[in-house]
Amino acid sequence: MLGCSGRRVYALLFALSAAICAFVYVVVNADNLVIFMKNQSTPYWNMQELRPAHLLMNVTVPVPTQSSIQNRSLADLKNEKNTSITEPTQESLKNAGTECKQVTKVVYIKTHKTASSTMASIIQRFGDSRNLSFAVPPRGHILSSRYGFKQNMLNSTKYPPLNGGTHYDILTNHVGYNRHEMEAVIPNATYITVLRHPVNQLVSAFTYFEWTKAVKAYRRGSADLFATFMERPTRFLTGKMKFWWQGHNGQLYDLGLKTQNKDTGKKLDDRVHKYIAVLDRELDLVLITEYFDESLLILKNQLCWSMDDIVYISKGLGTSHHIITQQTRDKLLKWNRGDFLLYQHFNRTLWEKIAEYGPTFEQDLKQLRGKLQETFKECINPLKMNTKDRRERKYVLKTTASKNCLKMSFDDIHYTNIIRKKQLKTNDEFSS
Ligand SMILES: *[C@@H]1O[C@H](CO)[C@@H](O)[C@H](O)[C@H]1NC(C)=O
Ligand SMILES: *[C@@H]1O[C@H](CO)[C@@H](O)[C@H](O)[C@H]1NC(C)=O
Ligand SMILES: *[C@@H]1O[C@H](CO)[C@@H](O)[C@H](O)[C@H]1NC(C)=O
Ligand SMILES: *[C@@H]1O[C@H](CO)[C@@H](O)[C@H](O)[C@H]1NC(C)=O
Ligand SMILES: *[C@@H]1O[C@H](CO)[C@@H](O)[C@H](O)[C@H]1NC(C)=O
Ligand SMILES: *[C@@H]1O[C@H](CO)[C@@H](O)[C@H](O)[C@H]1NC(C)=O
Ligand SMILES: *[C@@H]1O[C@H](CO)[C@@H](O)[C@H](O)[C@H]1NC(C)=O
Ligand SMILES: *[C@@H]1O[C@H](CO)[C@@H](O)[C@H](O)[C@H]1NC(C)=O
Repeated sequence: MLGCSGRRVYALLFALSAAICAFVYVVVNADNLVIFMKNQSTPYWNMQELRPAHLLMNVTVPVPTQSSIQNRSLADLKNEKNTSITEPTQESLKNAGTECKQVTKVVYIKTHKTASSTMASIIQRFGDSRNLSFAVPPRGHILSSRYGFKQNMLNSTKYPPLNGGTHYDILTNHVGYNRHEMEAVIPNATYITVLRHPVNQLVSAFTYFEWTKAVKAYRRGSADLFATFMERPTRFLTGKMKFWWQGHNGQLYDLGLKTQNKDTGKKLDDRVHKYIAVLDRELDLVLITEYFDESLLILKNQLCWSMDDIVYISKGLGTSHHIITQQTRDKLLKWNRGDFLLYQHFNRTLWEKIAEYGPTFEQDLKQLRGKLQETFKECINPLKMNTKDRRERKYVLKTTASKNCLKMSFDDIHYTNIIRKKQLKTNDEFSS
């Protein structure tokens, strides 16, 4: 099991993982690199992006030779192996607890580069296991990566709500927040999103959207691409660049507020504070990537889901190795000040919820992490990594992995396809 990182070498050092975590923590904080994690509770997947260079191990990860996760279908798994991961029981499908009513109507606003795919697939697995109606994009897994939701982004003729229903239950594919239009397709939904510290988030976006290319073209042999980018982001964030609109307060953007480069100082702060107040009223739960497991426990409580519902296999592990100096960090936080204010607000509200959770929080967290480790041991081949996408490494399942492992491993691209097909079939059967 991995202690604090997805790297194979750490898997080999499992016994020492606690020590390594502590070591990373100390080194990271003593260095010119700033990392924002709670020490003892760092999930194994989120140390990836901001490790200092001297800690990066030279591990060669073999490219998987067998069919990867994406290529396997549920049909491959007829000979299902024994599993210690429990399928949800009929009882838990109806209601996880007795004192609360399980929430089954969810709008999840999928922000970019925030571990949002991992969350999306948790929601997809939940909805799939209960046969809920998803408002799916007619093709692909994105409704819009740039614009707010509009009902006409769905094809409700071809993919209507299941079994003659009038409304959908779940919306979880990429699209900007647009309350009015969302309410029209899923009334009375619980609204969820996830935010990440703006330093971690922008560094991740920088690599993932390949803005590095523009920086390399501008200054050949630039020693520190990210620092060069931060010298003047507007030089690079031009219309030619993929996802350029994500570069300036991208998380606020996904949640419906566009900020202008010229907005600064008090004027910007006022606008952002006002908008945060709106979001605070309208969103039911905001998860925080840096405290992902803690956030999931709050979600479990608030939505009355079960522990098994929130177990996950993380989707993409970043491959960027940028060292962020204090100076670059300061520039970034000034540049994305809107996102920083947003993050600070919702980090605070998350911890308020944690405080209200009650005395079993630490114990429940331990239980969840135990389940995550079990899942990892059972499902993931520790010797392989899928490196086909240069921007992101992905776990590879063991060939003996169970159906449950497989479902947990689906990313939202794959899961959306499955859901779309299932809904077509269900509706065909219903209408015939
Ligand atoms: C989030 O809030 C908690 C509780 O107030 C605080 O300890 C922590 O430092 C905050 N995290 C970040 C990354 O700001
Ligand atoms: C971090 O966690 C480890 C293991 O749980 C612990 O030994 C260490 O004291 C912690 N370090 C800090 C700085 O909190
Ligand atoms: C990794 O490899 C590079 C070049 O091959 C080398 O300069 C560096 O010292 C190595 N790092 C570690 C941690 O072994
Ligand atoms: C899936 O299988 C096909 C044919 O066997 C292969 O060409 C393709 O690269 C595979 N895709 C992935 C993601 O492994
Ligand atoms: C699964 O494990 C249980 C107990 O370990 C055993 O009794 C059962 O036969 C196994 N089932 C299969 C299909 O291997
Ligand atoms: C979901 O639908 C399938 C296929 O119709 C059915 O076998 C299964 O029992 C349903 N599950 C629930 C929880 O309703
Ligand atoms: C929706 O799907 C139907 C049936 O496949 C198709 O005829 C129609 O053109 C689609 N509508 C839109 C707006 O794409
Ligand atoms: C939404 O909630 C309101 C008030 O609780 C209720 O009157 C209404 O019927 C609900 N609408 C749907 C579509 O469930």
